[in-house]
Amino acid sequence: MPASCASCRCSCSRPVPEGRVRVVPSLLAADFGALRRDMEKVACAGWCSVDVMDGHFVPNISLGPDALKALRGAGVRLDAHLMVSDPGAFLDSFAQAGADWIIFHLEACPRPRPLLRKLRALGVGVGLAVNPKTPVEGLFPFLPDLDLALVMTVQPGFGGQPFQEKTLSKIRSLRAAIDRSRRPVWLQVDGGIGPRTAPLAAGAGADCLVSGSGVFGAKDPRAALKRLVRESQDAFDRRGR
Ligand code: DX5
Repeated sequence: MPASCASCRCSCSRPVPEGRVRVVPSLLAADFGALRRDMEKVACAGWCSVDVMDGHFVPNISLGPDALKALRGAGVRLDAHLMVSDPGAFLDSFAQAGADWIIFHLEACPRPRPLLRKLRALGVGVGLAVNPKTPVEGLFPFLPDLDLALVMTVQPGFGGQPFQEKTLSKIRSLRAAIDRSRRPVWLQVDGGIGPRTAPLAAGAGADCLVSGSGVFGAKDPRAALKRLVRESQDAFDRRGR
């Protein structure tokens, strides 16, 4: 990554899917009194997730654009996962704050194409998410507009929830759709990702695994991250064998 890209948000260095599984620490599980310090502990991930909650789409309130901006410049790419009822109200502020991807929910915007195109125009990675109860097929028509598709493996709002194994069939179905599309779209999963569930999700076809408690809840977050990467990559590579 050119040095100049470490702090800027140019798409030249935004990672694209190429068979390498990424484990993305979720800062929701980090120490809110020392977010940058905790993020730098796992900077080797190269990518962290910033959960944005409005207390309306989900019953919790978390981080805003100024918090994301304060995390820039550490050579870590940041996605802003907007768990908000009006994502259109936040695209500019998170793009200006330096988000590398902005992900919003299909449940909050059933006709997402105008916002997807706005994100493309802003030069930000384009992400769309579905909750566990939402059929994953709802994402399929928008795959040509996406850089990232997120299958929530818990009901959004809080970290530390158990992984919902019924979402595995959604992951498999989305993996098949992305492969058919032949487009470089990350298949991201988020919620309850730990040593037991990361290989399940990766074995179903996820190549981007968001983990909060599984990383920051460990005694040694960096070692926990590396173990999740190793075991997820093995499971991803073993698919179909
Ligand atoms: C749910 C949040 C969580 C968080 C990760 O709204 O999006 O999924 O990122 O939480 P863990 O990894 O602790 O389940």
